[in-house]
Amino acid sequence: MLDPSRILQRCDALARHSELPGGLTRVFLSPQARAAADLVLGWMREAGMQARLDAIGNALGRYEGERPAAACLMLGSHLDTVRDAGKYDGMLGVVTAIECVHLLNARKERLPFAIEVLGFGDEEGVRFGTTLLGSRALAGTLDPRVLESTDAQGVSIAQALRDFGLDPQEIPSVRRKRGEVLAYAELHIEQGPVLEAEGLPVGVVSAINGFSRLRATLRGEAGHAGTVPMKLRRDALAAAAECVLAVERIARARPELVATVGRIEARPGAINVIPGEVQFTVDVRAPEDAAREQALAAVRTEIALIAEARSIGFEIETLQELGSSACAPWLMAQLERAVAGEGLRCLRLPSGAGHDGMALKAIADIAMLFVRCKRGISHHPAEAISAEDAGTGARVLNRFIHDFRPVSA
Ligand code: GLV
Ligand code: MN
Ligand code: MN
Repeated sequence: MLDPSRILQRCDALARHSELPGGLTRVFLSPQARAAADLVLGWMREAGMQARLDAIGNALGRYEGERPAAACLMLGSHLDTVRDAGKYDGMLGVVTAIECVHLLNARKERLPFAIEVLGFGDEEGVRFGTTLLGSRALAGTLDPRVLESTDAQGVSIAQALRDFGLDPQEIPSVRRKRGEVLAYAELHIEQGPVLEAEGLPVGVVSAINGFSRLRATLRGEAGHAGTVPMKLRRDALAAAAECVLAVERIARARPELVATVGRIEARPGAINVIPGEVQFTVDVRAPEDAAREQALAAVRTEIALIAEARSIGFEIETLQELGSSACAPWLMAQLERAVAGEGLRCLRLPSGAGHDGMALKAIADIAMLFVRCKRGISHHPAEAISAEDAGTGARVLNRFIHDFRPVSA
């Protein structure tokens, strides 16, 4: 029997591994990430899988099929979180996949394909500003230069891997070839309000919106907050404030496009000093790549104009960009059969959030099943799902796994 209460209890257990007292923050390659991965590896082994941490810090479990070394159906999601996160974003997909394998194992059932469950180490990109590190390593699309990106303490990804007990030189060994992975299917909370409004516990994702992440640096001149007259100032934070509003205006003018300045830092950061340097991030997302590119060009132009008008120097780095990722029609059809098999109406919906499938698409067709979450809240500690919906999601995933037929079969 699939056990929804165990699924929720395991999400609770993972949420206890947090650097934030009384809340949940678990970033890539942290001690808390190690503890969470160890917990997941233990559950994978209990469910009859061979399990290990790979060279980029993903928890990887494999349940063999009828024949050894068969190609796999890959399932899973991520184990890292945003700051002050909810406990289901990512984790629900990992523990539900393990629950499905647990049932197969309990019934001593083998399928014509292997199943691999991944608990990706980094999907959110919180620590190093660049995301999908685990799934990009698997897809073989992780540019080694990315390993030089640093966190707020100046620690590079390469160093953090070494501190975690991993060898960055081994990352190429994580790579999987097209053909070894028959498909990637991820269950995830919706993180939006559509399923609740439609009165549905689950939905099938049609495509994942593309995203771009930028980091802008504005350089003015620090000075005494009491002595420098207003018209002689080159205040980098006042310039950044104008830029933030420009980003909002650009997004509001374009249907379906969203843009966020989620992080801003002013230096030197004292009450009585004019801010001399400011860094802020910009995250832009859209279903249409052309609309996103056009909005990005507008953001760059606005920042340049604002900086020029205030005699401020500026620099804009692209941290990461990924185009919108369509889910495979043949997999959507199989997921929909599983949804209908549970007596439910099928609804297709796009994903505004990013997911590991965006990276894995380089080696396999992808699909996603969304599970309703309360009031669509996510990236927030109030994230919640009902045990009933967790159970429905697990049953649909289980049915999908059982009836899964690779497109070439
Ligand atoms: C991940 O949740 C993202 O969409 O940023
Ligand atoms: Mn997230
Ligand atoms: Mn997620």
